[in-house]
Amino acid sequence: MEIVILPDAADSGHLAGGAVAALLARKPDAVLGLATGSSPLPVYDDLVARYTAGEISFARATAFTLDEYVGLPADHPERYSTVIREAFTSRVDLRPDAVHGPDGLATDIPAACAAYDAAIAEAGGIDLQILGIGTDGHIAFNEPGSSLASRTRIKTLTHQTRADNARFFGGDIDAVPTRCLTQGLGTIMEAGHIVLTASGQNKAEAVHQLAEGGVSALWPATILQHHPHVSVLVDEAAASRLQLASYYRQTWAAKPEWQGL
Ligand code: F6R
Repeated sequence: MEIVILPDAADSGHLAGGAVAALLARKPDAVLGLATGSSPLPVYDDLVARYTAGEISFARATAFTLDEYVGLPADHPERYSTVIREAFTSRVDLRPDAVHGPDGLATDIPAACAAYDAAIAEAGGIDLQILGIGTDGHIAFNEPGSSLASRTRIKTLTHQTRADNARFFGGDIDAVPTRCLTQGLGTIMEAGHIVLTASGQNKAEAVHQLAEGGVSALWPATILQHHPHVSVLVDEAAASRLQLASYYRQTWAAKPEWQGL
């Protein structure tokens, strides 16, 4: 796991955007994994800038989102399928039918979840997964206690996650759905390269556990310690609890540019 400590979230967005651009250059039909929430927004802004400048194209790419609230009406602005369209996919040349997400309105939820994992496999698997991390250490919506081998399934959100996400629902925690569909930790672990971004003091403990804690379902993101290619891009505040921060800084400073992420 590589930890890169950067001055701010825009720098993380630029670095992650560079990794996506390099992937598209060598594999124009790449399969991208997209997170929602606020953490990846600088990544998407960077990718839109590269697309607008004519540097990259998503015309042959495919995308899979991580998760979706259960039961939000089709026209609700906070449905993740809507959020990702507005934040990213409609701003570049990704074909709308190449963007997939778990169906939070499915009548047969187990079948919809199994079909989602099958669709990712059929697309050839995710080449690069963009991730955020929750303050309680969740990735996608794999809350503490999640099976480390889990597949896409229905989960119940913790009170902490609903409180954190109330800001997207006018500050009203009761408006935040209680359940979601989420790629499992086992599903996420199959991605070729995982790029996780985090910023702000409220992520510091989760980032410390992710990189330096014992692997445990209590901090689900710790499963990423078993993945061979994870890049964690954090700002100073999110890095503030890292025990080995000076080593990470030295390592990054000495890394030749050709190596990329
Ligand atoms: C969203 C997702 C979540 C978020 C996490 C952090 O698709 O998978 O794991 O990445 O809740 O959210 P933000 O980035 O809003 O702090």
